[in-house]
Amino acid sequence: MALRIAVRRSSAVCHCFASTSVREPAFIRRNASAMAVPTSSQPEKAGNDIHREASLSNPDPPTDSQTAAIVGEHLQYMVATYVRPPPMMVKGEGCYLWDIENRRYLDFTAGIAVNALGHCDPEMAKLIGQQARTLIHTSNLYHNPWTGALSQLLISKTRDSGSMHEASKVFICNSGSEANEAAIKFARKVGKIRQLSGEQHEIVSFNQSFHGRTMGSLSATPNPKYQKPFGPMIPGFRYGNYNDEAGIKDLVTEKTCGVIVEPIQGEGGVNVATPSFLQALRDRCNEVGAVLIYDEIQCGLSRTGQLWAHASLPPSAHPDIVTTAKALGNGFPIGATMVTEEVAKCIVTGDHGTTFGGNPLACRLAHYIISRLSEPKLQQGVLEKEKIFRAGFQRLQERFPEVISEVRGRGLILGLQLTQDPTPIVTAARERGLLVITCGTNTLRFVPPLIISNEEIEEGLGVLEQAVEAALSPKEQVDGTKGQQEMAPKGR
Ligand SMILES: Cc1ncc(COP(=O)(O)O)c(C=O)c1O
Repeated sequence: MALRIAVRRSSAVCHCFASTSVREPAFIRRNASAMAVPTSSQPEKAGNDIHREASLSNPDPPTDSQTAAIVGEHLQYMVATYVRPPPMMVKGEGCYLWDIENRRYLDFTAGIAVNALGHCDPEMAKLIGQQARTLIHTSNLYHNPWTGALSQLLISKTRDSGSMHEASKVFICNSGSEANEAAIKFARKVGKIRQLSGEQHEIVSFNQSFHGRTMGSLSATPNPKYQKPFGPMIPGFRYGNYNDEAGIKDLVTEKTCGVIVEPIQGEGGVNVATPSFLQALRDRCNEVGAVLIYDEIQCGLSRTGQLWAHASLPPSAHPDIVTTAKALGNGFPIGATMVTEEVAKCIVTGDHGTTFGGNPLACRLAHYIISRLSEPKLQQGVLEKEKIFRAGFQRLQERFPEVISEVRGRGLILGLQLTQDPTPIVTAARERGLLVITCGTNTLRFVPPLIISNEEIEEGLGVLEQAVEAALSPKEQVDGTKGQQEMAPKGR
């Protein structure tokens, strides 16, 4: 078995490094030693490591591996904004990723709810090639066929889906943070027009929300870990408690120009807003003349089985602005801010802009992606797959009732609330070929590609069960993986 792994990896590395100057992969030496029988003179830890590695399909590359050498070389040039686990991903197809040592991982993360159509969708790859040979960028100073076509499609699909019935116009940008930045600016502009004194300028958001890292979107993200190093925040932001209907009246006042809320909080722990909370927010926004913004960057684009997570709400709870990104480009950077006519008419030429946003390449791709993601068959599939996940989670909860306290979410944005740090499970899963991420406080998050098959879900659930078992086993001593979520709690 160990020999087979060594052969498989050695041919893979020959392939991966064919055009690099890197020689003699260290893992070949490591695997050779793994085949040796431990002697009494070897330290006990080394013996345990060898035993552990032999039982794992994808043990993390050790510090003397080829992967570690490349990572070490590169890291010194990279601003340390993220902590990453040891493997280096080089290829993706469908719901799988491969690392540089050619080990395969089933991906329950989809690049943080991005690759809804899976990795390297063939039609998308074809379109990238075609459009790259035709026109990539003109700037927004000229018309192109795709910015408008994407805007039109977003509006018509949104209205057809029973969501945001007054959706009218779109601003296209490059990321989720930028989409929210535009939404915040638009809300401020609406407030200025409604209240010439400038009094109506406050933006309300909620604890455990995540709206991005730019100064406006960060000011709407009330997490001290992210705000404190960059304070002071932009003035005029207020924070309330998610799903706290009683608090809305004092929170949203005549001074409020906009309220931004995720219908399902992703990074904050897969927390689902109650319909009555969203309705109450809508009603209060109507009373004070504030703009209601639904941030559907993570939960939107059919992840809940409907085009937008708020589609199940009555029109009386629909927002004035929806922001989207992530799955809109399936990995290609793009974001969008959809607004009603009321909001659109407050924005005039020169108020806002972007150099790259709306470029023909990104927009042509998003046009194709929206067409695919709005297919009823795909959406129906999401609901069926949710059932498979939930059945698996129930089995897991029955087996480990003291560790799994709750299952949350909708469609294929699901969270397992644990009573302890989930990061050892993340590591144990990865070393068995399954990628999962965390969120909130001690929550395991599941946001797989929406095209995932029933068999792949069952395969992943099987690995997850083994991972929980291993992480809980006193013999295994699995170390937690750092940095598996945007909002990692302090100390991770
Ligand atoms: C709900 C939500 N809003 C905004 C953002 C920020 O998006 P981006 O990282 O593309 O700037 C994220 C990213 O995780 C998100 O989940």
